[in-house]
Amino acid sequence: MTAFDVVIMAAGKGTRMKSSMPKVLHRLAGKALIQHVIDTARTLNARHTIVITGHGAEQVERALTSDNTSDNLQFARQMPQLGTGHAVQQAVPLLADDGVVVVLSGDVPLTQADTLQALLKACHGQQLALLTIDFADPTGYGRIVRSPKGDVHAIVEHKDANEAQRAIQEVYSGIMAVPAKLLKPWLARLDNHNAQQEFYLTDVVKFAQADGVPVVAHKIKDATQVAGVNSPTQLAELERAFQLRQAHALMADGVRIMDPARLDVRGHLSCAQDVEIDVNCIFEGQVSLGQGVKIGANCVIANCTLEAGAVIHPFTHIDGENLGVTVGENARIGPFARLRPGAQLAEEVHIGNFVEVKNSTLAKGSKANHLAYLGDATVGERVNYGAGSITANYDGANKHRTVIEADVHVGSNCVLVAPVTLGAGGTIGGGSTITKSTEAGALSVARGKQISLANYKRPEKKAKP
Ligand code: UD1
Ligand code: CA
Repeated sequence: MTAFDVVIMAAGKGTRMKSSMPKVLHRLAGKALIQHVIDTARTLNARHTIVITGHGAEQVERALTSDNTSDNLQFARQMPQLGTGHAVQQAVPLLADDGVVVVLSGDVPLTQADTLQALLKACHGQQLALLTIDFADPTGYGRIVRSPKGDVHAIVEHKDANEAQRAIQEVYSGIMAVPAKLLKPWLARLDNHNAQQEFYLTDVVKFAQADGVPVVAHKIKDATQVAGVNSPTQLAELERAFQLRQAHALMADGVRIMDPARLDVRGHLSCAQDVEIDVNCIFEGQVSLGQGVKIGANCVIANCTLEAGAVIHPFTHIDGENLGVTVGENARIGPFARLRPGAQLAEEVHIGNFVEVKNSTLAKGSKANHLAYLGDATVGERVNYGAGSITANYDGANKHRTVIEADVHVGSNCVLVAPVTLGAGGTIGGGSTITKSTEAGALSVARGKQISLANYKRPEKKAKP
């Protein structure tokens, strides 16, 4: 196939978002709208992708530059914004003559790669191909005007259309594919003699007619693929459409999702066989679920790997951020647990309610079942970490490690002041504040000795005079 370059129009204001942030940077499934478009272009191996910026140009360019390293991404500014034809004119100096140009919009995030592939095929390296769709209510869109034989004659913008043309339900989606060597001279011929006094990209259809270049329409049925985001309501509608699409793709792979309408994947979720996901779970970043993993209701799970058979009980929050989190085979987490970056849990580890684990490794079979904190700790096998115990890992300036060797039992409500090592098989008495390392096998207690005063009388209220 002929090489192709992508032009993404993203200079418009997005007034109806009523936001200080440029429209195309608003997020769908955790990713900027325009990034969806860029990623689709990348899937198709576009040669160059040129983004036309205008409103909020600096912010858009900065965001896209930091999110798209090592890329064939280029920017062209359109100031002021005089219409879609004027927008594409700004890309002309960056466009090679030998390719096909695919025009997309930064606020239309869900066009599928196979649709664009079909459009490119229709263009065939030599004609003008328009992506079109029938709308029951075509108000506001450019109408596809055909000759009696069915050839595409023109696109007439809603505001320029007469009564008969307004009755046409086939509309231009805003997406076209056209050879650069045809597009460039057509762009040079555009004028703004129309109802909106804008330079319409859609006028290229007239020039194709005049030059005897065939105009073909590739009509699709799926409205979400051409839906633009103009308001928070439309953003939410597309979010749901996208999430439903992802849920169905997961279910087609065998994932059992309790309710596809109550799942959000903001990133990439990979699932082995027999994974079950209860309602209201959010997955973010890169998440990998092993065979038979079960996720309870209302969990937020991000940037982590859960090995086969792991069970995550409801209301658990896991986020590995940049360090990752690993949950070992058949481990049990939650309800109400929190795993933070660098939590590396081996097989059969149990982390219970209101337990927080950060930058710590727990070896096979260790348990922290209630109300505890493990930070910067190395925990051996079969350790039992009591309710209310914490590692005091931060001295106000630096962080230090706590080492808990195999088979240690830490009682309830202990403070382990790092750096400190608890020797293998040792026992720490409840309520201890441990500041010195302990011997293997020893019982260590570090708390005030209990005293009892017999027949103690509590103070009594004095009688009022
Ligand atoms: C355009 C089409 C119309 C089509 C509709 C589909 C034209 C003249 N009309 O309409 O036939 O049915 O899309 O949604 O092309 N933009 C710029 N610079 C500008 C103007 C727009 O970058 O000067 C960007 C916008 O940010 C947006 C895209 O181009 O991403 C489309 O602009 P929009 O105003 O939505 O197009 P319409 O005129 O509604
Ligand atoms: Ca529009």
